[in-house]
Amino acid sequence: MLTRRALLAGSASLAVAGVTAPRAVRAAARRAPLRDPFRLGVASGEPAPDGMVLWTRLATDPLAPDGLGGMPRRPVPVEWQLAEDENFRRVVRHGTETARPEAAHSVHVELEGLEPGAEYFYRFRAAGELSETGRTLTTPAPGTRSRALNLSFTSCADYQSGYFTAYRRMAEDHPDLIAFLGDYIYEYGDYEHPVRDQAGGECLDLAGYRLRHAQHKTDPDLRAAHAIAPWAVVWDDHDVRNAWAGDVSRKRRAAAFRAYYENMPLRRAQRPVGAALRLYRSIRWGAVANLHLLDTRQYRDPYACAGRAGRAGRAGTVGPDCAERLAPARTILGQEQQTWLDAQLRESHATWDLLGQQVFMMEMDWVRGPAQGWSNEGWDGYVASRDHLAAIVGAHRRNAVVLTGDVHSHWAGQISRDQRDPGSKPVAVELVTTSVTSAGDGLDEYPDTPDLLAGNPHVRFFNGRRGYVRTRISRREMKVDFRSLAYVTRPDAPARTSGFFAIEPGDPALNPA
Ligand SMILES: [Fe+2]
Repeated sequence: MLTRRALLAGSASLAVAGVTAPRAVRAAARRAPLRDPFRLGVASGEPAPDGMVLWTRLATDPLAPDGLGGMPRRPVPVEWQLAEDENFRRVVRHGTETARPEAAHSVHVELEGLEPGAEYFYRFRAAGELSETGRTLTTPAPGTRSRALNLSFTSCADYQSGYFTAYRRMAEDHPDLIAFLGDYIYEYGDYEHPVRDQAGGECLDLAGYRLRHAQHKTDPDLRAAHAIAPWAVVWDDHDVRNAWAGDVSRKRRAAAFRAYYENMPLRRAQRPVGAALRLYRSIRWGAVANLHLLDTRQYRDPYACAGRAGRAGRAGTVGPDCAERLAPARTILGQEQQTWLDAQLRESHATWDLLGQQVFMMEMDWVRGPAQGWSNEGWDGYVASRDHLAAIVGAHRRNAVVLTGDVHSHWAGQISRDQRDPGSKPVAVELVTTSVTSAGDGLDEYPDTPDLLAGNPHVRFFNGRRGYVRTRISRREMKVDFRSLAYVTRPDAPARTSGFFAIEPGDPALNPA
C-alpha cells in the first residue's frame, strides 16, 4: 500500500510537470490523499466463540450534507489487522476490504476461526493513515461456566440533549460487552436551545440518517466506548422515527435501516433488504448467559386504543376502558420472532437468559392515586405477548433477566406470570437503564416518584438521572450497579452507583446489597 508521503509526492510531481489535461486531473484526484479518514473511529460487535465483526467507516468531512463524509465517489481499499497484543507484535489475522461509496465507505470484517475466550486488538489502514486501536474479544467456549460476563448497557443518546459522558464512564469500566438498547440517534430536527448543535435537521432520507450517524461517531466519548469492547445493538423508535409502529413509509424505513447497518458493527445476517432487517438474534457467553436481542418495533401490532388519541399510530397512556390491549391475538414481537424466542428459551442451557429489548415489559400504572393508566407502547399494550413469554420462562425454569431502555430513567422490578394478580409468583427480573442524554440532567427522584412506586409494588428502584447499568454475571449471581451522572448539560460528570442489587439463580428477586 502507498504511504501518505508517497501519495503527496505523486501529486506534487504532477503539478510540477504542469499536467492539466482533464483525464490526468481526474486520475490525480482519484489518488489524492484522504486526510484523517478515521474520524468516525473503530468498533467491533457480535462476539462469538470463534470471531466477531470489526467495523470502521471512512470520512474526511463527517458533517458533509450529502451524508457521504466528504469521501470521493470511488472504492477505497482498507487494510485491517487483528493481533493478540496492543503493539501488534503478534498479528493473527490481516486482510484488505473495500470501502465502497454505495455503503458510505463503511467496512464490516466478519471473522471466524479465532480462539475462544480471548482478547484481541485491531486497527485499520487506508490511504497510508492508521486508525486508532480497538480492543475486542471472543466469547468463552460453549459450555464454559467459569468465566463471568461483565456486561454494561444503556440507551437513548440524543446529541442535542447533552454530552455523551455515560459512554466515557462505560469505557473506563473495561466491560466485556456493551449492549445498546435503542435510540442510538434521534431523527429529530433542530431544537430551539440545544445543549449541542447537530448538523442536518430532521432525518428524512438516506443522506440525513447517514449524516446523523456520522456526527454521533465523531463524539470522543462514544468512540472510546466503541473502541474498548464489542457491542450488541438493537434499535428503538428514534433510530427511524418517534413512536413508529409500522406506520413509516417503506422508503424512509429502508433509508434508516440502511444507514443503521452501515454504521453498526453488525453481521451480514443483519444486512437490510429494502425495508426489512432481521435484528433479533442471540449472543452466547459460554454456559453462563445467553443474550437474546429482541426487536419490538418492526413487527408489532398497531397501538391499542390509539383511535381515541385522535390519530392512528398514537402512543400514549390508556385507561381501564381500553380492552384492546388485553386482546389475546395481539403481538409485540410478531409470530416469527415469538416462535424463534420460544425455541431459544426452550433449548437454552445457560445459567441466565438475558432479554435485551426496547420498551417497559413489567406492568406499570403510570397514573397516580386510585385511577389507572398504562402505556400502550410498552408490553402493557401487548399483554398477551408478555403473558406468553412469562409462561415460557416459567415452564422451562429459565433465570430470565429483561434488559430494557426507552424511558430515560433507571428502574428495577419483577415480572409475574399474571401481572394483574398480586398473588402471582414472579418469574423474571427487569432492569431498565436510563438514557445517555435524553431528558437532560434529570433528578434522582421526582415529586411523583413515591406515589408511582407505591402504586406499583413490584417496582423496587428508580433513579431519574442519566447513565448506564453495569452488571457482573457469573454462574452464582448477577450483580447490578445502576450508574448515575450528576449532569450531562456540561461535559465530564463523575458517575456514581445510585442503586446496587444482587440476583441469584432460581429466585427472581432483587436483593439489596
Ligand atoms: Fe429514547
